Amino acid sequence: APQRSFVLLKPDAVRRGLVGAILSRFESRGLKIVAMDLRYVDGDLADQHYAEHVERDFYPPLRTFVTSGPSVAVLLEGDQVIEVVRTMNGATDARKAAPGTIRGDWALSNRENLVHGSDSAESAAREIALWFPDFA
Ligand code: CMP
Repeated sequence: APQRSFVLLKPDAVRRGLVGAILSRFESRGLKIVAMDLRYVDGDLADQHYAEHVERDFYPPLRTFVTSGPSVAVLLEGDQVIEVVRTMNGATDARKAAPGTIRGDWALSNRENLVHGSDSAESAAREIALWFPDFA
């Protein structure tokens, strides 16, 4: 059934000029861009987006990274899009991500891993309400 997922192309993707290449993969797969926005993520938005991680040891450097430059927020739609995007993104730790995935082809870091994708229907609803309230 058609579904929506929130995807964030993080500052490393913008800095490295990989936005077009990453979006091209999603579009070629058949996923539809419903909304898209270049955003300078501030600390507040980072804390809300990563609410489940704010107490973790890895969060302070993650917060610094995700606020280090513009990101591209994307609302994608398609059949089983949440799972499809996560498969296309590859393992969170890019050092372990399979070749053929976005992280496995273009990243080599556990933090600077180019993309975020909603991990469940519940997260997608929460993240869409946060990033694209007009579409919630
Ligand atoms: P993301 O899918 O955006 O969800 C949480 C993010 O935290 C993750 O991608 C990584 O960027 C980062 N992250 C998760 N685990 C670690 C870790 N152990 N060390 C550093 N960064 C991490």
